[in-house]
Amino acid sequence: MPSHASGNFYGIGIGPGDPELLTLKALRILKETDVVFVPKAGIKEESMALEIVQPLINGKKVIEKVFPMIRDTDKLQEFWLDAARAIKEELDEGRDVAFLTIGDSLTFSTYVYLLRCLRDMVPEEKIHTIPGITSFNAAASLVNLPLAQRDERLAVVPVSDDVEELRPILEKFDTVVLMKVAKKLDKVIALLEDMGLAESSVFASHVGLENAYVTSDISKLKGSGKGYMSIIIVKRPLA
Ligand SMILES: C[S@@+](CC[C@H](N)C(=O)[O-])C[C@H]1O[C@@H](n2cnc3c(N)ncnc32)[C@H](O)[C@@H]1O
Repeated sequence: MPSHASGNFYGIGIGPGDPELLTLKALRILKETDVVFVPKAGIKEESMALEIVQPLINGKKVIEKVFPMIRDTDKLQEFWLDAARAIKEELDEGRDVAFLTIGDSLTFSTYVYLLRCLRDMVPEEKIHTIPGITSFNAAASLVNLPLAQRDERLAVVPVSDDVEELRPILEKFDTVVLMKVAKKLDKVIALLEDMGLAESSVFASHVGLENAYVTSDISKLKGSGKGYMSIIIVKRPLA
Protein backbone atom coordinates (compact mmCIF):
# COMPACT_ATOMS: atom_id res chain seq x y z
CA MET A 1 0.00 0.00 0.00
CA PRO A 2 1.42 3.45 -0.89
CA SER A 3 1.88 5.71 2.15
CA HIS A 4 0.55 8.74 0.25
CA ALA A 5 -2.83 9.42 -1.35
CA SER A 6 -3.07 8.53 -5.02
CA GLY A 7 -3.33 11.34 -7.56
CA ASN A 8 -6.31 12.48 -9.60
CA PHE A 9 -6.78 11.85 -13.30
CA TYR A 10 -8.18 14.55 -15.62
CA GLY A 11 -9.26 13.84 -19.21
CA ILE A 12 -9.21 17.34 -20.67
CA GLY A 13 -10.93 18.51 -23.85
CA ILE A 14 -8.66 21.31 -25.08
CA GLY A 15 -10.90 22.60 -27.87
CA PRO A 16 -10.23 22.47 -31.62
CA GLY A 17 -6.88 24.27 -31.77
CA ASP A 18 -7.01 27.89 -30.65
CA PRO A 19 -5.55 28.00 -27.10
CA GLU A 20 -8.05 30.77 -26.32
CA LEU A 21 -10.79 28.16 -26.71
CA LEU A 22 -9.54 26.25 -23.67
CA THR A 23 -11.90 26.60 -20.72
CA LEU A 24 -10.67 28.32 -17.56
CA LYS A 25 -11.09 24.99 -15.77
CA ALA A 26 -8.91 23.17 -18.31
CA LEU A 27 -6.27 25.89 -18.00
CA ARG A 28 -6.24 25.74 -14.19
CA ILE A 29 -5.98 21.96 -14.12
CA LEU A 30 -3.24 21.97 -16.75
CA LYS A 31 -1.24 24.39 -14.63
CA GLU A 32 -1.79 22.34 -11.48
CA THR A 33 -1.15 18.81 -12.73
CA ASP A 34 2.29 17.21 -12.44
CA VAL A 35 2.23 15.01 -15.54
CA VAL A 36 0.63 15.54 -18.95
CA PHE A 37 -0.11 12.59 -21.25
CA VAL A 38 -0.62 13.46 -24.91
CA PRO A 39 -1.94 11.25 -27.72
CA LYS A 40 -0.35 11.08 -31.16
CA ALA A 41 -0.99 9.02 -34.27
CA GLY A 42 2.54 7.68 -34.85
CA ILE A 43 6.00 7.60 -33.25
CA LYS A 44 7.44 10.09 -35.73
CA GLU A 45 4.41 12.38 -35.75
CA GLU A 46 3.97 15.52 -33.70
CA SER A 47 1.15 15.52 -31.18
CA MET A 48 -1.29 18.19 -32.26
CA ALA A 49 -2.72 18.38 -28.74
CA LEU A 50 0.76 19.02 -27.36
CA GLU A 51 1.49 21.74 -29.90
CA ILE A 52 -1.67 23.57 -28.86
CA VAL A 53 -0.93 23.67 -25.12
CA GLN A 54 2.90 23.55 -25.16
CA PRO A 55 3.41 27.19 -24.08
CA LEU A 56 1.10 26.58 -21.11
CA ILE A 57 2.84 23.49 -19.73
CA ASN A 58 6.53 24.32 -20.09
CA GLY A 59 8.63 22.45 -17.54
CA LYS A 60 6.06 19.74 -16.85
CA LYS A 61 6.66 16.05 -17.35
CA VAL A 62 5.11 15.18 -20.73
CA ILE A 63 4.51 11.58 -21.79
CA GLU A 64 3.53 10.98 -25.42
CA LYS A 65 1.47 7.88 -26.18
CA VAL A 66 0.85 6.53 -29.66
CA PHE A 67 -2.69 5.60 -30.68
CA PRO A 68 -2.32 4.50 -34.32
CA MET A 69 -5.09 5.18 -36.83
CA ILE A 70 -6.15 1.55 -37.20
CA ARG A 71 -9.59 0.01 -37.08
CA ASP A 72 -8.60 -3.28 -35.42
CA THR A 73 -9.99 -2.64 -31.93
CA ASP A 74 -8.19 -5.65 -30.42
CA LYS A 75 -4.84 -4.22 -31.49
CA LEU A 76 -5.83 -0.74 -30.38
CA GLN A 77 -6.84 -2.12 -27.00
CA GLU A 78 -3.18 -2.90 -26.33
CA PHE A 79 -2.22 0.75 -26.86
CA TRP A 80 -5.02 2.00 -24.59
CA LEU A 81 -4.12 -0.53 -21.91
CA ASP A 82 -0.49 0.49 -22.10
CA ALA A 83 -1.44 4.17 -21.67
CA ALA A 84 -3.83 3.35 -18.80
CA ARG A 85 -1.12 1.39 -16.97
CA ALA A 86 1.40 4.21 -17.39
CA ILE A 87 -1.17 6.71 -16.08
CA LYS A 88 -1.93 4.47 -13.11
CA GLU A 89 1.77 4.29 -12.20
CA GLU A 90 1.90 8.08 -11.97
CA LEU A 91 -1.34 8.22 -9.95
CA ASP A 92 0.00 5.59 -7.54
CA GLU A 93 3.01 7.83 -6.94
CA GLY A 94 0.57 10.52 -5.76
CA ARG A 95 0.90 12.64 -8.89
CA ASP A 96 -2.04 14.30 -10.66
CA VAL A 97 -2.26 13.41 -14.34
CA ALA A 98 -3.86 15.19 -17.31
CA PHE A 99 -4.66 13.48 -20.62
CA LEU A 100 -5.27 15.83 -23.55
CA THR A 101 -7.90 15.39 -26.22
CA ILE A 102 -8.75 17.59 -29.19
CA GLY A 103 -12.17 19.24 -29.05
CA ASP A 104 -14.40 17.60 -26.47
CA SER A 105 -13.11 14.48 -24.71
CA LEU A 106 -16.35 12.55 -25.03
CA THR A 107 -17.15 13.38 -28.67
CA PHE A 108 -15.62 10.97 -31.21
CA SER A 109 -12.48 10.62 -29.14
CA THR A 110 -10.24 7.64 -28.39
CA TYR A 111 -10.24 8.99 -24.82
CA VAL A 112 -13.43 7.00 -24.33
CA TYR A 113 -11.50 3.74 -24.74
CA LEU A 114 -8.80 4.91 -22.37
CA LEU A 115 -11.52 5.81 -19.88
CA ARG A 116 -12.89 2.28 -20.11
CA CYS A 117 -9.46 0.79 -19.26
CA LEU A 118 -8.82 3.27 -16.45
CA ARG A 119 -12.14 2.51 -14.79
CA ASP A 120 -10.95 -1.05 -14.18
CA MET A 121 -7.83 0.25 -12.42
CA VAL A 122 -8.69 3.54 -10.70
CA PRO A 123 -11.59 4.46 -8.37
CA GLU A 124 -14.32 6.46 -10.15
CA GLU A 125 -13.95 9.43 -7.77
CA LYS A 126 -10.38 9.91 -8.98
CA ILE A 127 -11.41 10.16 -12.64
CA HIS A 128 -12.54 13.58 -13.90
CA THR A 129 -13.54 14.48 -17.46
CA ILE A 130 -13.31 18.17 -18.35
CA PRO A 131 -15.47 19.10 -21.37
CA GLY A 132 -14.04 21.03 -24.30
CA ILE A 133 -15.41 23.04 -27.22
CA THR A 134 -16.04 20.70 -30.13
CA SER A 135 -14.62 21.31 -33.60
CA PHE A 136 -18.11 21.70 -35.05
CA ASN A 137 -19.18 24.26 -32.44
CA ALA A 138 -16.07 26.26 -33.28
CA ALA A 139 -16.66 25.88 -37.03
CA ALA A 140 -20.29 27.04 -36.78
CA SER A 141 -19.19 30.07 -34.75
CA LEU A 142 -16.54 30.91 -37.32
CA VAL A 143 -19.25 31.56 -39.92
CA ASN A 144 -22.02 32.63 -37.49
CA LEU A 145 -24.13 29.64 -38.53
CA PRO A 146 -26.89 28.60 -36.09
CA LEU A 147 -26.69 24.84 -35.60
CA ALA A 148 -30.25 24.44 -34.37
CA GLN A 149 -33.05 26.72 -33.35
CA ARG A 150 -36.70 26.29 -32.39
CA ASP A 151 -37.68 22.69 -33.19
CA GLU A 152 -34.95 22.01 -35.75
CA ARG A 153 -33.22 18.66 -35.62
CA LEU A 154 -29.44 18.42 -35.54
CA ALA A 155 -27.44 15.32 -36.46
CA VAL A 156 -23.70 14.87 -35.93
CA VAL A 157 -22.37 11.93 -37.94
CA PRO A 158 -18.99 10.54 -39.01
CA VAL A 159 -18.66 9.93 -42.74
CA SER A 160 -18.31 6.22 -43.46
CA ASP A 161 -16.79 4.69 -46.59
CA ASP A 162 -20.29 4.29 -48.03
CA VAL A 163 -21.35 7.93 -48.28
CA GLU A 164 -24.81 6.87 -49.55
CA GLU A 165 -25.59 6.05 -45.89
CA LEU A 166 -25.72 9.80 -45.37
CA ARG A 167 -28.60 10.33 -47.81
CA PRO A 168 -31.49 9.45 -45.43
CA ILE A 169 -29.87 11.48 -42.66
CA LEU A 170 -29.46 14.49 -44.93
CA GLU A 171 -33.12 14.12 -45.97
CA LYS A 172 -34.40 13.92 -42.39
CA PHE A 173 -32.41 16.47 -40.38
CA ASP A 174 -32.41 20.28 -40.68
CA THR A 175 -28.71 20.53 -39.85
CA VAL A 176 -26.19 17.77 -40.41
CA VAL A 177 -22.60 17.99 -39.18
CA LEU A 178 -20.34 15.65 -41.13
CA MET A 179 -17.21 14.68 -39.20
CA LYS A 180 -14.16 12.69 -40.33
CA VAL A 181 -14.60 13.71 -43.97
CA ALA A 182 -10.93 13.08 -44.80
CA LYS A 183 -10.39 11.06 -48.01
CA LYS A 184 -14.13 10.88 -48.67
CA LEU A 185 -14.39 14.60 -49.46
CA ASP A 186 -14.96 14.17 -53.20
CA LYS A 187 -17.65 11.51 -52.68
CA VAL A 188 -19.41 13.68 -50.10
CA ILE A 189 -19.38 16.69 -52.42
CA ALA A 190 -20.83 14.56 -55.25
CA LEU A 191 -23.63 13.37 -52.93
CA LEU A 192 -24.43 16.91 -51.73
CA GLU A 193 -24.52 18.14 -55.33
CA ASP A 194 -26.80 15.26 -56.30
CA MET A 195 -29.17 16.14 -53.44
CA GLY A 196 -29.14 19.85 -54.30
CA LEU A 197 -27.46 20.62 -50.95
CA ALA A 198 -24.01 21.80 -52.07
CA GLU A 199 -25.05 25.44 -51.78
CA SER A 200 -26.40 24.85 -48.28
CA SER A 201 -23.07 23.49 -47.05
CA VAL A 202 -20.06 24.97 -45.34
CA PHE A 203 -16.66 23.29 -45.30
CA ALA A 204 -14.22 24.08 -42.47
CA SER A 205 -10.78 22.60 -41.92
CA HIS A 206 -8.09 23.11 -39.24
CA VAL A 207 -10.46 25.35 -37.31
CA GLY A 208 -8.64 27.39 -34.69
CA LEU A 209 -5.23 26.67 -36.20
CA GLU A 210 -2.96 28.86 -38.31
CA ASN A 211 -3.99 27.11 -41.52
CA ALA A 212 -7.73 27.32 -40.82
CA TYR A 213 -9.79 27.28 -44.03
CA VAL A 214 -13.51 27.88 -44.50
CA THR A 215 -15.62 28.01 -47.63
CA SER A 216 -19.25 27.78 -48.64
CA ASP A 217 -18.26 27.00 -52.22
CA ILE A 218 -17.67 23.32 -51.59
CA SER A 219 -17.84 22.24 -55.24
CA LYS A 220 -14.51 23.91 -55.91
CA LEU A 221 -12.87 21.55 -53.39
CA LYS A 222 -13.27 18.49 -55.62
CA GLY A 223 -9.86 16.90 -56.19
CA SER A 224 -8.19 19.32 -53.75
CA GLY A 225 -7.30 16.68 -51.15
CA LYS A 226 -8.31 19.15 -48.43
CA GLY A 227 -10.45 16.69 -46.47
CA TYR A 228 -7.98 16.07 -43.63
CA MET A 229 -9.06 17.56 -40.28
CA SER A 230 -12.26 18.94 -41.72
CA ILE A 231 -15.98 19.01 -41.18
CA ILE A 232 -18.91 19.95 -43.39
CA ILE A 233 -22.04 21.53 -41.95
CA VAL A 234 -25.14 21.11 -44.10
CA LYS A 235 -27.93 23.49 -43.17
CA ARG A 236 -31.25 23.33 -44.98
CA PRO A 237 -32.67 26.79 -45.64
CA LEU A 238 -35.70 27.53 -43.43
CA ALA A 239 -38.93 26.83 -45.34
C1 LIG B 1 -11.36 11.88 -33.71
S1 LIG B 1 -12.47 13.15 -34.13
C2 LIG B 1 -12.26 14.24 -32.79
C3 LIG B 1 -13.44 15.13 -32.52
C4 LIG B 1 -13.20 16.05 -31.35
N1 LIG B 1 -13.17 15.30 -30.11
C5 LIG B 1 -14.24 17.16 -31.25
O1 LIG B 1 -14.85 17.33 -30.17
O2 LIG B 1 -14.40 17.91 -32.21
C6 LIG B 1 -11.57 13.89 -35.42
C7 LIG B 1 -12.47 14.67 -36.36
O3 LIG B 1 -12.88 15.87 -35.71
C8 LIG B 1 -12.92 16.93 -36.65
N2 LIG B 1 -11.97 17.96 -36.19
C9 LIG B 1 -11.22 17.91 -35.08
N3 LIG B 1 -10.52 19.05 -34.92
C10 LIG B 1 -10.84 19.83 -35.97
C11 LIG B 1 -10.46 21.14 -36.38
N4 LIG B 1 -9.60 21.86 -35.67
N5 LIG B 1 -11.02 21.64 -37.52
C12 LIG B 1 -11.91 20.92 -38.23
N6 LIG B 1 -12.30 19.68 -37.89
C13 LIG B 1 -11.77 19.15 -36.78
C14 LIG B 1 -12.58 16.34 -38.00
O4 LIG B 1 -13.78 15.94 -38.63
C15 LIG B 1 -11.75 15.13 -37.60
O5 LIG B 1 -11.78 14.14 -38.61
